[in-house]
Amino acid sequence: MADNALPPSAAREAMERLNEEAGKYYIWLRTQANAPAQRPWFRETAISAEGRLAPGRVGANQIKAVPHHWRWGEIGHYLDRIAEIARTAARTQDLSPIEFADRQQFLLVNPGLGGRLQVASTIRCAVSIYNPGDVAPVHMHTPNASRTILSENGGYTTIEGERCRATRGDLILTPHGTWHDHGNDGATPVVWADILDFPLLEFLDCNWIDEDFPGAREGNARAQAPTLADGYSARLYGAGGIVPNFVSHQRGIGRETTPVFHYRGSAIRAALDALRGEAGDPYEGISIRFVNPATGASVFPTLDYAAQLLRPGEATRFKRETANQFYIVLDGEGSTEIAGERFDWAENDIFVVPNFRWRRHLNRGTRDAVLYSVSDQPLLHKIGQYRAQGRTDDGTAVQLVS
Ligand SMILES: [Fe+2]
Repeated sequence: MADNALPPSAAREAMERLNEEAGKYYIWLRTQANAPAQRPWFRETAISAEGRLAPGRVGANQIKAVPHHWRWGEIGHYLDRIAEIARTAARTQDLSPIEFADRQQFLLVNPGLGGRLQVASTIRCAVSIYNPGDVAPVHMHTPNASRTILSENGGYTTIEGERCRATRGDLILTPHGTWHDHGNDGATPVVWADILDFPLLEFLDCNWIDEDFPGAREGNARAQAPTLADGYSARLYGAGGIVPNFVSHQRGIGRETTPVFHYRGSAIRAALDALRGEAGDPYEGISIRFVNPATGASVFPTLDYAAQLLRPGEATRFKRETANQFYIVLDGEGSTEIAGERFDWAENDIFVVPNFRWRRHLNRGTRDAVLYSVSDQPLLHKIGQYRAQGRTDDGTAVQLVS
């Protein structure tokens, strides 16, 4: 019988036998369909629609983030426990926390990503604690990073000579290619969430870190001396629509990054409060973006940062995007429905809405809810793949960005 007359299963078996032989040359004889991992974007509009893993060789090697919710009540106490272990190691073994584990933190692991240290295909999140006196030495790297301060005292981060002293709700940005160091010079522990585009840089094999800051102080407490008066970001860029004419808006050696490193939680909340009387967006409520004031673009070339206010009882309409959305709950309590599943959140909870999933938010409390979010939308825009859909009140899917 000629090969082309073999029934499909026999043909596949013959190909697999051949594959065993050919494998040593690092080639694969195609025996299965190369099925994409996402359903057709515009046709599959059910609320429960979400990505699926395709069968076959290509599908088997794909991994896919799933919606997930990390409850602060379940995870927060691990910071106290690792901080205690680090304190004990410092006391009994003369081992500094930096030598002990580089950082005192836990990383969030999306259950769909096979143990990888990431919450979505492009985003990593760690939650860190710094005891009084702890320092993370000065360094720079290719990933863009941010920290969202969760404790009342947020310690400091010094970036390109600007020392940012933080409190709860602050957003501190360390764009790629900026020298930065962190520390806690207060009397109580400091907790924040670090968010980075680390998995993207790792995938591109473009991940590097430089720890040799010229002229850094010696030893484990290596830190850069502040060279700018406190409040530099706000002083130069804090008035909307006004930028200084006498400085370069490029800080550090990165590209397409914001010159503003520090947003105060109180200023973010005031901006949201000032808009609370507006109609807002049916899909996002009262939502504000953090942008590069010199260009109006996202603060990082890869990630977009936003904050949104949901008024008591407010429920947004369903929306979905080709971009991932990652959230931290700064205030209030409510729910987010993701691909037909309901996640009830409270203060400091963290959750992820992977791309292509329908989502909507509901403030179920009697006071305002405030969510901070991070999205890889700018990256998707740049590669021509950003699209978004919404649902009208009668459930019809409409194109928001097509
Ligand atoms: Fe860093």
